[in-house]
Amino acid sequence: MKTAFKPGTLIYPLPAVMVSCGDSPENYNILTIAWTGTVCTDPPMCYISVRRERHSYDLIRRTGEFVINLTTEALARATDWCGVNSGRDHDKFKEMRLTPEAGQVVKAPLIAESPLNIECRVTEIKELGSHDMFLARVVAIDAEEALIDKGTGAFQLNHARPLAYSHGKYYGLGEKIGGFGFSVKKK
Ligand SMILES: Cc1cc2nc3c(=O)[nH]c(=O)nc-3n(C[C@H](O)[C@H](O)[C@H](O)COP(=O)(O)O)c2cc1C
Repeated sequence: MKTAFKPGTLIYPLPAVMVSCGDSPENYNILTIAWTGTVCTDPPMCYISVRRERHSYDLIRRTGEFVINLTTEALARATDWCGVNSGRDHDKFKEMRLTPEAGQVVKAPLIAESPLNIECRVTEIKELGSHDMFLARVVAIDAEEALIDKGTGAFQLNHARPLAYSHGKYYGLGEKIGGFGFSVKKK
C-alpha cells in the first residue's frame, strides 16, 4: 500500500558537488549543489540548478563558466560548509583550506583536493521557478592521476570514497553489488 505525498523533489541519493566559479582570484567562489546531473553523452553535457539569490548565480551568469568538483568523504565538511555560507561573507577557498588551481579551458578555478574536476561552459539558462537551470557543455576534465589504474588506464573514482547526499544527510557508498551488465553476464 502507498501513501500520497505532495509532489516534490524526492530523487535521491544524489551527488553533492562543489561548484567553483569566478574569473579572477579576487572573486573565486564555491557553492554546494545537489541539483546536478548528466543530460547527454555526446556532446557531453550536464546541468546545475541555482537559486537566483546565490552569490554564485551572478558570477556564473556573467562568466558563462563553472567547474563541477566531485566530492569525497574527506571533503564532506567542506562540502557542507560551502553550502551553508555565502561568498558574500567568506573566502571559501581560504577558510576551508582548499586550493584553487587553473583549469585547462575555463577561467573558473578547479578545487585541487577534488578527485575529478569537470570544466563546463554554459549553453543555456532555463528559468524554471525557484531555480534557474544552467545547461552546460563539458569542455575539459581534470582527473587525479593517483586514481588512474596503471594497467587498464581506467579512472577509479570509487577508490576515492565518493560522497552521496540523501534526504538531507551525507553518506559514503555501501557495498559493491555488481558491475554494469552483471545481470546478464554468464558466470
Ligand atoms: C547539500 C547541499 C546541496 C545544495 N544544493 C543546492 C542546489 O542544488 N542549488 C542551489 O541553488 N543551492 C544549493 N545549496 C545551497 C547553496 O550551496 C548555499 O546557499 C550556498 O551558501 C550558496 O553560496 P554562495 O552564496 O556563495 O553562492 C545546497 C546546499 C547544500 C548544503
